[in-house]
Amino acid sequence: MSKMVIEGGRRLDGLVRVHGSKNAVLPILAATVLNGGTNIIHDCPGLKDVYSSIEILKGLGCKAAWEGSTVIIDSGGIATHYIPEALMREMRSSIIFLGAIISRCRKATISMPGGCELGPRPIDLHLKAFRQLGIAIDEAHGYITCNVDEIKCDDIHLDFPSVGATENIMLVAALANGVTTVSNAAKEPEIVDLQSYLNKMGAKISGAGTSVITIEGVSALGGVEHRVIPDRIVAATYLSAAAATGGSVTITNVIPAHLQPVTSALKECGCGLRQEKDAMTITVGDRPRPVDFIRTLPHPGFPTDAQPPVMSALSVAAGTSVIAENMFENRYKHVPELNRMGADIKVDGRVAVIRGVKRLSGAKTSATDLRGAAALIIAGLNAEGVTEVEGLCHLDRGYEFFEVGLAGLGANIKRVE
Ligand code: UD1
Repeated sequence: MSKMVIEGGRRLDGLVRVHGSKNAVLPILAATVLNGGTNIIHDCPGLKDVYSSIEILKGLGCKAAWEGSTVIIDSGGIATHYIPEALMREMRSSIIFLGAIISRCRKATISMPGGCELGPRPIDLHLKAFRQLGIAIDEAHGYITCNVDEIKCDDIHLDFPSVGATENIMLVAALANGVTTVSNAAKEPEIVDLQSYLNKMGAKISGAGTSVITIEGVSALGGVEHRVIPDRIVAATYLSAAAATGGSVTITNVIPAHLQPVTSALKECGCGLRQEKDAMTITVGDRPRPVDFIRTLPHPGFPTDAQPPVMSALSVAAGTSVIAENMFENRYKHVPELNRMGADIKVDGRVAVIRGVKRLSGAKTSATDLRGAAALIIAGLNAEGVTEVEGLCHLDRGYEFFEVGLAGLGANIKRVE
């Protein structure tokens, strides 16, 4: 089993490039199903979830090829509307393929996505919206089968601004006869990137990034070339690492506006932040200061995915911070591991109280989810002595060459197989 071995105590200094966004590229890969043509996607990160998506596309009959960090998908040969259970289980966000396949084939069968490491992951909002669009849904024996002759375009109000449900509606309604609107839509930057991608194919979608999205259906879509937006969560992770170790780190390939909820928390921690057009430099002198209260919320609130890495930095702050995790039930699984490293964090339901300690101490730890893995690595960078982090299968879902990036900043970190 591979693990990360980190000798903590080095300040981070230097420059690191942030790769393309996982959460943007996954719905974009699903969207390649729609055009039955060529899709050229630049800055596609080499992540486990990306490889799983490409396996799903190949299973549907698409051709896929890599040229460096560009992936080329030809969806001309789609021959089935079915995703087998083994591929669905690889990745929870494969639910996004449901909308894409319905859009192209007017029918789809996938196995029901189960829960995940963050707790139950219901898809009721996706299915409610599909039903409103006239799609017949049959749920039996662990499978969901959808059928529709003609999409019934409508005004859909989401009870909660779900990212995945918003994306699924955009995919279904892009190829339709009529206008669909989504109110209380998710406003994440990745939704805006999906809109750009679909519009480059010939879709007529507007409003992404606001709470009302309008999708004017078209009858066919064409080939597309697109560069994926930078990964704001990977950027937030590098910034948190610098906050935990001290030093001066420049991250490039970032869109500073996407990072605002995180940079505002880091400023409260006393970190210096200088932003340029597509780069950001964090300078951290001493221990971070605590933050009063972070609440994870839908964008533009504080992103739940940045909560674990930021918590690691706060665990060594000079005072007490409070976090409320409002998005996922089980998103504090890294806390017992941080406490084994000498952190002083108490969790009650959604709330975590983090009493900063001067320094963590190295320990053997095990990650159970993606961002929790990043949090433990950040803790290891601060800790005295050696930290080992197991469970790298989770890290590899969302960070490409993370240890290489950190080593380039001066960290003493290596992956041991
Ligand atoms: C996406 C991101 C994930 C991020 C999350 C919240 C991708 C691939 N993943 O996940 O990294 O943590 O947004 O920013 O983009 N919910 C329901 N019913 C539904 C759908 C969602 O109750 O039908 C609930 C979820 O359980 C969760 C909340 O809504 O508590 C947010 O989920 P959602 O916005 O849908 O997240 P994902 O699209 O799954």
